[in-house]
Amino acid sequence: MASKEKILIIDDEMAPRESIRMVLKDRYAVSTATGALEGLSIITQEQMDLVVMDIKMPKMDGITALQEIKKKSPDTEVILLTAYASLETARDAIRFGAFDYLLKPFDKDDILMVVEKGLAKRRSNTGLKLERDILLDRASYLEQQITEAKTNIMVCYEGTVKALILTIDAKDHYTYNHSNRVAILSSSIANSLDVTSKTLKEIEHAASIHDIGKIGIDENILKKNGRLTAEEYAEMKKHPAIGVRIVQSVSFLEDAIPVILYHHERYDGNGYPEGLKGEQIPLSARIVIVADAIDAMMSARPYRGALAMVNVISELKDNNGTQFDPDIVDIILQGRVPLI
Ligand SMILES: [Fe+2]
Repeated sequence: MASKEKILIIDDEMAPRESIRMVLKDRYAVSTATGALEGLSIITQEQMDLVVMDIKMPKMDGITALQEIKKKSPDTEVILLTAYASLETARDAIRFGAFDYLLKPFDKDDILMVVEKGLAKRRSNTGLKLERDILLDRASYLEQQITEAKTNIMVCYEGTVKALILTIDAKDHYTYNHSNRVAILSSSIANSLDVTSKTLKEIEHAASIHDIGKIGIDENILKKNGRLTAEEYAEMKKHPAIGVRIVQSVSFLEDAIPVILYHHERYDGNGYPEGLKGEQIPLSARIVIVADAIDAMMSARPYRGALAMVNVISELKDNNGTQFDPDIVDIILQGRVPLI
């Protein structure tokens, strides 16, 4: 059987205090106090479901005590006892959180009815609170699940990107680790442009798979030491479009498409595949073309050694504003990005 609900009666006058106690004592666990201070002390020690309290009391009146009770125990319902003379005060007390008032003299049925109504409200509030707590628990559990799912997706993403990079590198040994270095350099350049951390990560990932389309290019063309013929070069120029076809079916790689498609566009509009010009070329692609060129120049090839830093800088200056975005070249020339 559920334990009885707890009611505290606070009244400095014994007669009403005792008569109310007699009415309630069989149904509820009733305590009494002879004044507001004693009542507050009881409430501090023990949670009450409902308080029945006189308005007119020495030392601390019922309205002040009501506000103190609501501070200590907001869920405890309070019913005020009032004589006709202080009826307006009792009505005003509702806005301080009193549930209702009883006008003296009151009979047994009045008391039982108001008390039972007050307790019903208290039960309903408790039920709502429980429901709210359960919902909050559920929400926090779901939040945790979403965070875990996001982490799993990121792990999956990183794994897929790594697998793609290995595939590109396996196809073209001379560019081994080139994709990784372009990713690091692109990320450093983007970082000096104050992009958001999300964009930064996107540029880094996109840079690392910018040449993914080379998977679809004949190895004899990829590995050819000499100059490409016109046909071979035309074939090679297909790798951005092939790359887009590879990643567009993978939703979490879609952000890499601008870099994959446009990393051979030149600032002066003479690049490929679309001949975009200046800021028509996405910023991420303008960054990657510079990083790609720097790493290519700094890497040894079968037909030439790695270029000295002075020559790399000189090449960047020569192609500044034609092949490359001058703002990005400036970042390199100002030494704002470490060149590995
Ligand atoms: Fe490329």
